[in-house]
Amino acid sequence: MPPPSMDAIRIRGRRRLEGTLRVGGAKNAALPILCATLLSEGESRLRNVPGLRDIGTTAALLDVLGRKTTVNIPEVRVGPATGAFFEAPYELVRQMRASVLVLGPLVARFGEARVSLPGGCAIGARPVDQHLKGLEALGAHITVEHGYVYAKAPRLVGAEIVLDMPTVTGTENLMMAAALAKGRTTLINCAREPEVEELGRVLNKMGAKVDGAGTAIIHITGADELAPFDHAIIADRIEAGTFMAAVGATGGNVLLEDAPLDDLEPVAVKLREAGVTLERDGNGVRVVREGPILPVDVTTAPHPGFPTDMQAQFMALMTQCEGRAVLTETIFENRFMHVPELQRMGAKIAIRNNTAVVEGVGPLSGASVMATDLRASASLVIAGLVAEGETIVRRVYHLDRGYESIEKKLGGVGALIERIQLEGP
Ligand code: EPZ
Repeated sequence: MPPPSMDAIRIRGRRRLEGTLRVGGAKNAALPILCATLLSEGESRLRNVPGLRDIGTTAALLDVLGRKTTVNIPEVRVGPATGAFFEAPYELVRQMRASVLVLGPLVARFGEARVSLPGGCAIGARPVDQHLKGLEALGAHITVEHGYVYAKAPRLVGAEIVLDMPTVTGTENLMMAAALAKGRTTLINCAREPEVEELGRVLNKMGAKVDGAGTAIIHITGADELAPFDHAIIADRIEAGTFMAAVGATGGNVLLEDAPLDDLEPVAVKLREAGVTLERDGNGVRVVREGPILPVDVTTAPHPGFPTDMQAQFMALMTQCEGRAVLTETIFENRFMHVPELQRMGAKIAIRNNTAVVEGVGPLSGASVMATDLRASASLVIAGLVAEGETIVRRVYHLDRGYESIEKKLGGVGALIERIQLEGP
């Protein structure tokens, strides 16, 4: 796991991408599944885990919770329980808001949990009110003080819960809590992301009875105890989508091994409309773009809508389109931080509230730019691949949270890209 550092990535643009690269395991599946290990006392094993900073952070959190965790990418072993540890400290939670996913498992297993509130992040306030309301419905007594959530419940009891919005980690937290609750729980208005469905598969392997994961209504019958598991993580659809947008932007012909296509349907439809060819090829997807890039409007939405996690990358592609594309972000209140950096590279983008109007221009011009959040940094890498001259993307620790060795993967298909050390942030 690359340490947080002032690494930067240097790209010399205007190269077509040709060859083969492999898509790794899904970060947003691995994180909840790592937290699900807390529901059982035994040692669990995860395979096809990506080598990301967030995996390292989660492993450190599990260690603090008494579970010796061995990260040997692509495998992670979470050791047996060594006692009742149920506090997730601020210094770890602030590094990764998905740490909130230990709340459900801890209160379900130990009857209490003390987890630092994740707080906001660059892309928005990101409250966890739905997580807390759901746990209260399951019988937990919740107090929030000194920046910590304290949940207490002798035994969680199944309930009917309607979510105000299809929150991904909210759905996942409540699925895990319900898996050890007494009786039956019905979650309504659930997130339908493939990573939620994958968590349902793991909970069933552990002995819970989960029906409907991946749909809007999930039924969970809790067990008195759950078994450890051995599970290979599904491929990362957002990493795959990011590389598809990159090939679309530069032009070329790349085989993405292990890339999922069904889970990427909303993105595939929009990329094909933009002139990118996507076809199954063996156990991967072949991405080709030879002709013009056509303007395509996109509005982000919960799955199966166009994923917010692909908005920034698609915008980088649309800076090269022949015309004008309108991108509307409906999930997070501040997810256009890549725009000022793209504008510094010559992109023509006008923002009005949660809508960005992108006028296709010729090649961007390379510049030194600053990453601000995970997907914004991916957008800047794609922009660097199509820019004249040299682009330096700084603060790539944002990138390392969600992309394993992106410079090696892109370099392996012809990009002129390398990781460099810079003095100072
Ligand atoms: C998950 O975050 C992903 N993270 C995010 O990916 C992704 O962008 C997001 O879902 C949306 O798809 C993981 O799975 C680890 P939400 P999550 O709860 O669960 C509001 C990446 O790039 N909300 O679905 O935190 C919230 O403010 C990351 O890999 C509440 O109001 O997102 C947001 O507007 C970034 N109250 C909307 O719902 C709550 O209790 C969707 O948030 C919970 C959420």
